[in-house]
Amino acid sequence: MIRILMVCLGNICRSPLAHGILDSKLDSNFFEVDSAGTSNYHIGSLPDKRSIAVARKNNLDITNQLGKQFIVEDFETYDYIYVMDKSNFENVIKMARNVEDIAKVKLILNESHPNKNLEVPDPYYGGDSGFDDVYKMLDEACDCISKKTQC
Ligand code: 4NP
Repeated sequence: MIRILMVCLGNICRSPLAHGILDSKLDSNFFEVDSAGTSNYHIGSLPDKRSIAVARKNNLDITNQLGKQFIVEDFETYDYIYVMDKSNFENVIKMARNVEDIAKVKLILNESHPNKNLEVPDPYYGGDSGFDDVYKMLDEACDCISKKTQC
């Protein structure tokens, strides 16, 4: 089993979308996808209504997800840790214990835009269109991840 973790700040907007999108593109016999936030703000919460809505618009149900916080043991559990932005990257790297841990952490948009270090913007304080933009970026990145892992 290959285990992949999607990480953002709150685990209610971006990473639940990334989690649902990638899960829908991979064979669950071989891949397990999950998500977490670096903060403790929304532990146990459903994804943001706007993330649920944009997922539903794209035929994806993410209401089976509940917020959880990234913990150091996640470096053992997961093979790949995709973060949404540079601040998530810093927060996760701060918890790394060795170079193997650090090597697992990648900016997710580097999958679709290699070496550009682009960020998935935090849509939390913006309008609904921010969620559409985030969905498109994540769908493209997850396509690249799924093609890579299945080749
Ligand atoms: P996310 O968005 O990191 O994509 O889940 C946020 C959600 C909540 C907060 C910040 C970002 N917050 O400050 O509560």
